[in-house]
Order: sequence, then C-alpha cells, then structure tokens
Amino acid sequence: MKKVLIIGSKGMLGQELISVFEEDSDFEVTGWDREDIDVTDKKDAQEKIEKLKPEIILNAAAYNAVDLCEEDDKEFEKAKSLNGTAPGNLAEIAKGIDAVFVHYSTDYVFGKNMPEIPEPKGCSGNCGGCGLHENFEPEIGFEEDDEPSPVNRYGESKLLGEKEVEKKGKKYYIVRLSKLFGKPGSADGAKKSFFDVMLEAGKKNKEVKAVDEETSCFTYAPDLARKTKEIIESKKEFGVYHIVNSDSCTWYEAVVELYKQAGIKTKVIPVSGDEFPRPATRPFFSVLLNKKLNPLRSYKEALSEYLELVNKD
Ligand SMILES: NC(=O)c1ccc[n+]([C@@H]2O[C@H](COP(=O)([O-])OP(=O)(O)OC[C@H]3O[C@@H](n4cnc5c(N)ncnc54)[C@H](OP(=O)(O)O)[C@@H]3O)[C@@H](O)[C@H]2O)c1
Repeated sequence: MKKVLIIGSKGMLGQELISVFEEDSDFEVTGWDREDIDVTDKKDAQEKIEKLKPEIILNAAAYNAVDLCEEDDKEFEKAKSLNGTAPGNLAEIAKGIDAVFVHYSTDYVFGKNMPEIPEPKGCSGNCGGCGLHENFEPEIGFEEDDEPSPVNRYGESKLLGEKEVEKKGKKYYIVRLSKLFGKPGSADGAKKSFFDVMLEAGKKNKEVKAVDEETSCFTYAPDLARKTKEIIESKKEFGVYHIVNSDSCTWYEAVVELYKQAGIKTKVIPVSGDEFPRPATRPFFSVLLNKKLNPLRSYKEALSEYLELVNKD
C-alpha cells in the first residue's frame, strides 16, 4: 500500500483527489485541510509530514481570490505566501523524504503575450504562398515549456510557486489547469464554479450577459483527479503538464452550451470584458495545449455528466 497525502482535501479539487485515490485499495489516503495543517507554516508542515511519511504528496491548497489580491497589498502577501513560498517548502519537504510531489498551477501564468501561430509542416514560415496553408487549422495555445507572462498578481503568485517548486523540489509534477468546475468544496465558504453560478442566474433571469472574450479551457475536477493518478502510476517524466478538458471557448460560449444542455431558455447576451470591470486584468487568451498526455474528453461531455449529478441532488 502506498501512502498518499492530499492537502487542501476539502477544496473542489482536493475532495475529488480523495475519492479517486480512496477507490483504489493500493493507496492509503490521508486528507488534510486548513484545520489539520497550515502549509504557510514551514515548521508545522515539516513536522506533520515527516511524521506521516507519505510516498506521494498532492498539494491542492491555494489562494484563489483573483480580484481581492489585486487591489489589497496585504492579500497579495497572503497569495504569495500560500501560492508561492508554501509550495516550494512542501516540495523541499517531499524531497527530504523522497516522496513524489504534485502541485497545481493555472493558465493565468500566461496572458501578457499571445502564443505563436504554428506554420503547417513543411512550410518555412516566410513562404509567401507555399500551398500548405489550405485547410490547415493551426492549434493555437500555450505549450508546457512556453515562457509564462502573467497579467495579474494572482498569476504572479502562482508563477512564483512554480519557480519555487522547480528550485527546491526533485520528484515533482507541476500541473496547470484552468477554469475548474465540479461539486463545490466542503470547506466553509467554498466557492461555486462558474457553471453553478450561471445555472442559478439562468433560473432567476429572463436574460443574462456573458463576456465573449478570455478564451480558455475548462477543467472538470473528477477528470483532473483521475489524470493526476494516471500520471503518477504510469511514472511519467517529472515536470510541467497541462491538464484541461478539450474544446476551448469564451465565457459566453460556455453559458450558451450550459443552457442548451440544461434546457434553460434564458437569453444569453455576448458582451465585452469592459461591461464587467474587475480589479484584476484577465488574460484575453489563455488556452493551454496538452502536448505530453492523451487529451481529456470535451468539456461539453464532462458538463453533461456534471449536470446529471446536480439533478440527482
Ligand atoms: N478554481 C479554479 O478555477 C482554478 C483555476 C486554475 C487553477 N486552480 C488551481 O487548482 C488548485 C485547486 O483549486 P480549488 O479551486 O480546488 O481550491 P479551493 O476549492 O479553494 O480549495 C483549497 C483548499 O485549501 C485550503 N487551504 C487554504 N489555505 C490553507 C492553508 N494555509 N493550509 C492548508 N490548507 C489551506 C482551503 O481552505 P479554506 O477554504 O478554509 O480557505 C480549501 O479547502 C489550486 O492550486 C488552484 O490555484 C484553480
């Protein structure tokens, strides 16, 4: 039996990691949340983890208040501590006990620059009409080794975490995801995902506005949890991975899909990001390309599974 420790176990992702690993009798699972460990306290974390001696540590604890840390310096310090320094310390603790360490990051480490638009195979790039462009649909997005360039403080704090893990860790996976959805976490004050918020809005209103920008991918928490286990069990090379559901979209496109699947007749009006001013700038485009793993199913299929679950409750 392999001992696995899941930190942030009451969060949206943490609770799915617990389910996926507990289903498998090869793993002995310990879940810790804020009341069991404070990952920002290195001494406390080190003592507790060294006593437990897990062979695998998954860190799903995070600071996710994107706008709050943009406008409040104290909150930004908290974000840097939880998203930046703490993952580095956990990676170092994992290295000390020879454990595999998994840390989660975000598409928001990108956004200042647009990704390169690839040329078709065989085209020199300065072809002036090589004929290979016909019917060529380039896959545009950020690859795992593209240079990050965050546009907001939350993104900066998560990028700091990636760098700290790379600096202090040894056997680590950094998994970037975007727009997580699934059952809200069980911790007090757990945030609902975009789809849950828009389901409620659709039931109450005749029309809703949604930003038709900020193209990126959704990630279904149970799919990400299963893929995490697969990476570990198949002993993939350590490093950075992108795990998101297939089919990128804007917020507007996602709401249209949601209402279609849920049979909600509310009118959806596409608007620009300027109609919803928020303290933190969002990346205009932050699609993550998965170049290292088999792709996950479309977010549309995952959403349909999630809606079935919601309707059962
Ligand atoms: N949600 C998204 O859309 C999204 C997008 C991209 C990347 N990600 C990344 O995906 C990962 C999982 O996100 P999530 O949405 O599942 O997070 P979440 O629901 O906010 O869960 C995080 C958990 O960590 C706990 N926690 C907070 N501070 C802690 C501390 N000092 N020590 C120990 N535990 C602490 C939280 O407790 P409290 O609730 O009591 O604070 C919460 O239970 C994170 O790395 C996040 O940055 C998320």
